Amino acid sequence: MNFPHHLTGLRNLEIENFKEIFKLAEVYKKKILNKTPFERKLKDKSVINLFFEDSTRTRTSFELAEKKLGMDVVNFSSSGSSLSKGESFLDTLKNIGSMKFDYIVIRSQESGTPAVCIKHTASKVINAGDGINEHPTQGLLDLFTLIEEFGSLKNLKVCIVGNISHSRVALSDIFALRKFNANVSVCGPLSFIPACIEGLGVDVYINIDEAVKNNDVLIVLRVQTERDAVSLLPSLNEYSKHYGINSDRLNLNPGIKIMHPGPVNINVEIDHKAAVSENSLIFDQVTNGLAVKCALFELMNEL
Ligand code: CP
Repeated sequence: MNFPHHLTGLRNLEIENFKEIFKLAEVYKKKILNKTPFERKLKDKSVINLFFEDSTRTRTSFELAEKKLGMDVVNFSSSGSSLSKGESFLDTLKNIGSMKFDYIVIRSQESGTPAVCIKHTASKVINAGDGINEHPTQGLLDLFTLIEEFGSLKNLKVCIVGNISHSRVALSDIFALRKFNANVSVCGPLSFIPACIEGLGVDVYINIDEAVKNNDVLIVLRVQTERDAVSLLPSLNEYSKHYGINSDRLNLNPGIKIMHPGPVNINVEIDHKAAVSENSLIFDQVTNGLAVKCALFELMNEL
């Protein structure tokens, strides 16, 4: 099966492509855990990590994957660039494109920027999160983590909790989980739930305790204060009281697993004890993010 030239989202990724990524990510996960040296399979390739929005996990795991595969890596962030002197996003992109990188990894606050990147450069483009649209590598690492934990996604009951309306992770996870016939729901105050969400084949919970009792996994999302999510709530304290994940709530379903894409607002959407509990897969997600990115680059290179 042909692998796509770019990865802009999971909505249109073929199920066979997911499976190829997960199979190879398993190989890379073993190498990472055993500290086995990597073959530098992409040593003649170059990549720029084009970050117009802050990041810890995505940026560092991309950079590490790229270096482990032997690529020439350049990191760009908007702060310190000529954007501050008035250069436009498009001119920035065209100048980057002129340097003929093999890959562009792009994160932006604006939805749709990976498509603009594809139009104005000849590089293979990977979306590292665009606005409130998609975050495909997060979706891939989330599914890989769930398969590792549960073996299969079929009929797995997964509830995505919190600030759905501002979340690119929610959309990528929903598109991907539905392809694998998982039973997907969302939970949060109505102000956080897009009106059209049921059209994506997901159920809606308003009551978090019901969601905890009825699901195998909660994917807890951050309240995106930088996108003015707080204006949709009476207060963060109220949100935490009604939707925050803590030990008392976990006791309603002691076997439930908890995930979170990060960064976490501790004591808002989840408390520290729950985040580091036996129920938590949060740090497995981060390790898996590295494995999945290595697999993705290798498969995109084989085109
Ligand atoms: N999950 C995620 O995208 O985290 P960062 O914003 O730190 O990259």
